[in-house]
Amino acid sequence: MDSSHVEKDLTDILFTEKQIQDRLAEMAGEVERDYAGKDLVIVGVLRGAVMVMADLARSLNRHVEMDWMAVSSYGSGTKSSGVVRILKDLDADIAGRHVLIVDEIIDTGLTLSWLTKNLASRNPASVEILTLLRKPEALTMAVQAKYVGWDIPNEFVVGYGLDYRERYRNMRDIGTLAPHVYS
Ligand code: IMP
Ligand code: MG
Repeated sequence: MDSSHVEKDLTDILFTEKQIQDRLAEMAGEVERDYAGKDLVIVGVLRGAVMVMADLARSLNRHVEMDWMAVSSYGSGTKSSGVVRILKDLDADIAGRHVLIVDEIIDTGLTLSWLTKNLASRNPASVEILTLLRKPEALTMAVQAKYVGWDIPNEFVVGYGLDYRERYRNMRDIGTLAPHVYS
């Protein structure tokens, strides 16, 4: 969906489809360099990371296994519930392998700090995080992302996998949701 279709729901467009593609291609280049000659599994966090995974993986000019996890941390609104549960676990055995968790946004960092510890307990060769977006609060949490697309202000954003009540995920751009939509 083009963001023009939901113009009234957005206060601004933060990143266009083109800007996102260009940034992901840059990040893919860094991943290629850092993991040259190493066995790599990228783990997408469902459902928000689907777009990032699809575009990052296609920008990687190397073999990479794509696996998925689903965890719940949010309810259906705009605030974290503080509880993390595994809804779908990995299919792959990651022991001895290099794991890169791929997510679309780190907000409080709660989900990814929990997930990183969980995956690290399975004896992988390494566990790192790639996120397209990061909000300021994430910096105060014990979650270190190795690759960050952009740091953004503490506002609720939608598009490119990011939803509000399961809507806007299929929007091509990333925009700030207008308060009238959720208040
Ligand atoms: P965290 O555990 O607080 O870092 O939140 C992680 C998850 O919350 C993300 O993977 C998203 O699914 C969701 N989330 C956080 N901020 C936003 C936002 O601005 N828009 C849409 N989803 C968000
Ligand atoms: Mg997510």
